Amino acid sequence: MSSTIASLEAREILDSRSRPTLEVTLVLDDGTRAAAGVPSGASTGAQEPVELRDGDPERYAGAGVLQAARNVGDVIAPELRGRPVGRLSDLASIDQALWELDGTANLSRLGANAVVGVSMAAARAAAAHAGTPLWRFLSEEYQDGRARMPVPHFNVVNGGAHASNDLDFQEFMVAPVGAPSYTEALRAGSEIYGSLRGLLRGAGQSTGLGDEGGFAPAVSKPEQVLALLVEAIEVAGYHTGPHGVMIAIDPAANGFHDSKQGIYRVAGADLDAAALVDRYAQMVERFPIWSIEDGHAETDLSGWSLMTQRLGGRVQVVGDDLLVTNPARISMGVRDHWATAALIKVNQVGTVTQTLEALRRCRDAGWGAMISHRSGETTDDFIADLAVASGCGQIKSGAPARGERLAKYNRLLAIDASASLPFGIPTDW
Ligand code: PGA
Ligand code: ZN
Repeated sequence: MSSTIASLEAREILDSRSRPTLEVTLVLDDGTRAAAGVPSGASTGAQEPVELRDGDPERYAGAGVLQAARNVGDVIAPELRGRPVGRLSDLASIDQALWELDGTANLSRLGANAVVGVSMAAARAAAAHAGTPLWRFLSEEYQDGRARMPVPHFNVVNGGAHASNDLDFQEFMVAPVGAPSYTEALRAGSEIYGSLRGLLRGAGQSTGLGDEGGFAPAVSKPEQVLALLVEAIEVAGYHTGPHGVMIAIDPAANGFHDSKQGIYRVAGADLDAAALVDRYAQMVERFPIWSIEDGHAETDLSGWSLMTQRLGGRVQVVGDDLLVTNPARISMGVRDHWATAALIKVNQVGTVTQTLEALRRCRDAGWGAMISHRSGETTDDFIADLAVASGCGQIKSGAPARGERLAKYNRLLAIDASASLPFGIPTDW
């Protein structure tokens, strides 16, 4: 059933922000070849494993990844050569070996970028060796055939660390939750993106883009953006609500939290954690918001608990920087009611095996989960298959624009065309 690893190497390539990242290539003894492009975040959680960067100021302002590439070829490859690849249990052994070989708690020796690239390439090689699409391989072998098409969350307005405007909140997403299929949801996202562009032009606003392909208009109040999104949804001919299009936001509150004073600065207002919850509550009252991610800073655990207590029954409360896709942190969050869902990013925890474990913990706890790209991306489409396989029903991959974002959305189109899978956010998964 399994083949074995014949060779493994990595090269430096560029990501969507023009920063170096890795492309890992793995070849099996039967000739099967698989590659993986490694993503990279800008608003990272303090508990994330560490990307290895060269720090050589003469190259890419210190952001080169030549050492990480060498670690794949010179340190990881000799250790993994000859190991079986074919089943998910093989992948679990490989991922385990990667952690042991690194030997640190945050993958800082080999680099989380090197490790995640190897893990993704190994998963892909296993699926290719089995002659199975990646989503089916992950779903059948590991997730008991719960596969479903996810609701795409299109980040159509960018702020925070992803744009140079005055918007404190990082992401404003439209989610066609009530669409009849994934394919129709993508169409809705594209049409709403188009009507939003028209509205911004009409208002004399810039239609320049942020890092995730969303517009980055010169507005500062989140409520102004939410009103604009509702208008764009309606102008495109859709309606808001659970049977139509809903809104999700990722304020990414680490970015506007003053930890010394314990306050949040939103559009010129200084808010404590409770006042910030009030502000979210008003937004949820006025606008069709269904999900709020990183509403409080990762260090403000009482703010998180208050938010979950007050709004957790009405909206999905998602932990990203708070939980960093880490199974142990997810379990802590479940126990202490920090949130009601986790954002899932493969490079935030280091390996595919741990990502699947993080998803399983969410599912077992009755939590939601949303699969996510990073702001710095390649055309790798691994997360599309992961989203389908997990059955969590939610993905965010930026705006329906720019090649690195569309690689994921278009891969989902291909899966939708090739298999008849249910679509939507499951109540139980
Ligand atoms: P990042 O942001 O990829 O820049 O970390 C994405 C997010 O906060 O969800
Ligand atoms: Zn986030």
